[in-house]
Amino acid sequence: MAAEARHFKYVILGGGVAAGYAAREFREQGVKPGELAIISKEALLNLTIHFFFQVAPYERPALSKGYLFPQNAARLPGFHTCVGSGGEKLLPEWYSEKGIELILSTEIVKVDLAAKTLTSAAGATFTYEILLIATGSSVIKLTDFGVQGAEYNNILYLRDIEDGEKLLAAMQAKKDGKAVVVGGGYIGLELSAALKINNFDVTMVYPEPWCMPRLFTAGIAHFYEGYYARKGINLVKGTYAAGFDADENGDVTAVKLKDGRVLEADIVIVGVGGRPLTGLVKGQVAEEKGGIKTDGFFETSVPGVYAIGDVATFPMKLYNDQRRVEHVDHARKSAEQAVRAIKAKESGEPIPEYDYLPYFYSRSFDVAWQFYGDNVGDDVLFGDNDPAATQPKFGSYWVKDGKVVGVFLEGGSADEYQAIARVARTQPPVVDVEVLRKDGLEFATKI
Ligand code: FDA
Ligand code: NAD
Repeated sequence: MAAEARHFKYVILGGGVAAGYAAREFREQGVKPGELAIISKEALLNLTIHFFFQVAPYERPALSKGYLFPQNAARLPGFHTCVGSGGEKLLPEWYSEKGIELILSTEIVKVDLAAKTLTSAAGATFTYEILLIATGSSVIKLTDFGVQGAEYNNILYLRDIEDGEKLLAAMQAKKDGKAVVVGGGYIGLELSAALKINNFDVTMVYPEPWCMPRLFTAGIAHFYEGYYARKGINLVKGTYAAGFDADENGDVTAVKLKDGRVLEADIVIVGVGGRPLTGLVKGQVAEEKGGIKTDGFFETSVPGVYAIGDVATFPMKLYNDQRRVEHVDHARKSAEQAVRAIKAKESGEPIPEYDYLPYFYSRSFDVAWQFYGDNVGDDVLFGDNDPAATQPKFGSYWVKDGKVVGVFLEGGSADEYQAIARVARTQPPVVDVEVLRKDGLEFATKI
């Protein structure tokens, strides 16, 4: 006989960044013991003792940075949410003390929004009054495109802590070996650095003329490509992985590039983008731009169902359009906004619509950058983007319709980052682009 459904007033589906911040906000706004549950499939396999540990929400950015350090590596429970934004670290005990149920190692395979019911892979059912969908993204795999040999051993991806453990095990097994990193985006740049720091011989391969083309201009990429080359990372641009060779054990030995070149490899890390996990509600809810369409309170087209983090396509008030954002700052803030909106509806007290200023960042080796705003219009490079600079500090403005709409800065201080955020938010007018170029960072710090 099937077990009875468990009922919660609020269910968060997914146990990542958005879930952790939503739980904290629920607690701040007031939630009674037993009212809230987080249901997440995440689990951590300990490869030494072959045991699955359950994993409470954590700050995913740590996985491509501190988690891979050869010394003083970040490990759970050190990076549970909400430590990444300077808040309290919510350990599994925090949830149990507050009466928030963490239902982990539990994959939901069916969502019936009309019946307000979720079904897990093991056949358990959960019912709710309010649902927050926080399923995040999955990695795009080379097997999705049928790339020959993409299933060989040691061709790895990084999305969750289990992937992180597999990566660490492969790095240990292939110590000081050759690594090929496929993809020139966030994962490509951060993982190439991590592998180099771990003494791998690293080659990055990407199809575009320069790295991170979604955000970087040629002038910005000039610095990072030069900097990586000086660190000893080989850059192969304008081509992609068309196939792989393996030895008799099925372990990858080489990457065959589209242009005919062959790169030896003991490990391959692939970072060719993510895909929002919206499949469970496909056809049941309005979608837009590949995500679940929400209003400025993250409520979807189905009343009482909210979507937060990577999966939400929301109104970007500042630019008067609809966007989906795959970054941690938005995951945190969208979660907080949705919970405040849920509670505001209950109390009848209105709250303002989400008014998000895009904020992305990355760091690797000794360099770190932040970006605020929109990278549209004409770009204006400022400062010294020489990769050999001892203390690099440079950036770019984006100017559209005579106003600065976006700012990138490498090597800034806390005050300078605040200044560029202010500029991106207030969009000051630009009379002369050449003056802006010459004034550089001073333009922002004067505002
Ligand atoms: P997130 O992916 O965090 O959580 C989704 C959760 O849902 C997971 O726990 C998943 O297991 C669960 N789930 C999915 N389907 C399920 C199902 N059917 N049943 C049960 N559970 C299910 N951003 C940034 O701004 N700066 C940075 O430095 C980084 N660094 C970074 C490193 C790495 C390695 C990655 C993969 C990503 C980043 N990001 C980042 C991006 C950032 O981490 C990302 O945007 C947020 O984690 C999104 O938060 P969500 O809660 O939406 O998804
Ligand atoms: P991405 O979209 O940043 O980069 C994908 C890259 O893949 C492209 O730049 C391109 O160079 C490359 N590419 C596409 N097809 C290719 C092919 N066939 N062969 C070789 N290269 C190919 O995605 P990602 O780096 O995989 O990151 C995954 C997700 O994780 C994203 O949502 C990203 O925002 C997030 N993330 C963010 C950060 C951060 O914000 N600092 C860090 C890590 C991950």
